[in-house]
Amino acid sequence: TKPSVLVARAVFDDVVDRLREHFDVETNPGDQVFPKAELIERLKGKQGALTTGSERIDGEVLAANPQLRVVSNIAVGYNNFDVPALDARGVLGTNTPDVLTETTADFGFALMMATARRMAESEHFLRRGEWNRWSLTMFAGSDVHGATLGILGMGRIGQAIARRGALGFGMKVLYHNRSRLAPEVEASLNARYVDKATLLRESDHLVLVLPYSASSHHAIGAAELAQMRPTATLTNIARGGIVDDAALAEALKAGRLAAAGLDVFEGEPQVHPSLLEVPNVVLTPHIASATLATRRAMANLAADNLIAGLGFGPDAGRPPTPINPNVLPLRSA
Ligand code: GLV
Ligand code: GLV
Repeated sequence: TKPSVLVARAVFDDVVDRLREHFDVETNPGDQVFPKAELIERLKGKQGALTTGSERIDGEVLAANPQLRVVSNIAVGYNNFDVPALDARGVLGTNTPDVLTETTADFGFALMMATARRMAESEHFLRRGEWNRWSLTMFAGSDVHGATLGILGMGRIGQAIARRGALGFGMKVLYHNRSRLAPEVEASLNARYVDKATLLRESDHLVLVLPYSASSHHAIGAAELAQMRPTATLTNIARGGIVDDAALAEALKAGRLAAAGLDVFEGEPQVHPSLLEVPNVVLTPHIASATLATRRAMANLAADNLIAGLGFGPDAGRPPTPINPNVLPLRSA
């Protein structure tokens, strides 16, 4: 008999068909996020699961489902996985890096530009019918070209944003990260490594691209916002919780920061009510990797990981993008 897997959210039909070649597949046609108790129930008897950032896979879920072998996230970020708990139970987690890098960098750059040039605020003004005359300083923002681009978190996506800024827009690129890039990579991106305080102080446009963890929780809070230039913008395409959204709304209201572009929020899909009240923000619903081509590539890579992780297909036992390869080879399901 085939192993059973749960596809926790709606995905492309042809991707489900690929899974059906190897597995008995339970899908989620309604595409509602399963509450925890239901997720635990639906995982019963399943050896694998395709998840998104909305399903939390922790010790409780794993303890209730000791037969589970592979959890395959359709996302590069995997803070919804308790990785030590996966390790402790010998469960493989996988994610979808690389295939979304350029698409996500495009969006980060677009959001930063929209923020600097006040595109959302001015569109709302037009839609409200308030445009009755043109004026010289109407929605005057700040330049992107030639400005100082600050990047916090210099992984693949951070580097792809740096490349856009340095090569396309003549920006000076500063970055801070846990580890430094190799000198030749720094040189190719025209990027300078600085400490976090310098990054905050010198950036005209600061973009956050670091993974969420206990140590990046509120990496940008009131104290950090106070170190930024009042003319600066902040763009977050990383994860909610890296920014203290309440403190950010305060800084924006008080004019201590020019504007913010946010694709991710603490407690999303809830959005802090004060952020909805400030005009100088561009707010998008966690869509940085959302092109059809990239979402298809992510879903297919997640399927590849699940198929190979459970011992099928050409890469059986060698899933392409494992998070915790230390658990390989998996004991049989
Ligand atoms: C989306 O946020 C992802 O991690 O891919
Ligand atoms: C992951 O965080 C990346 O930057 O690709």
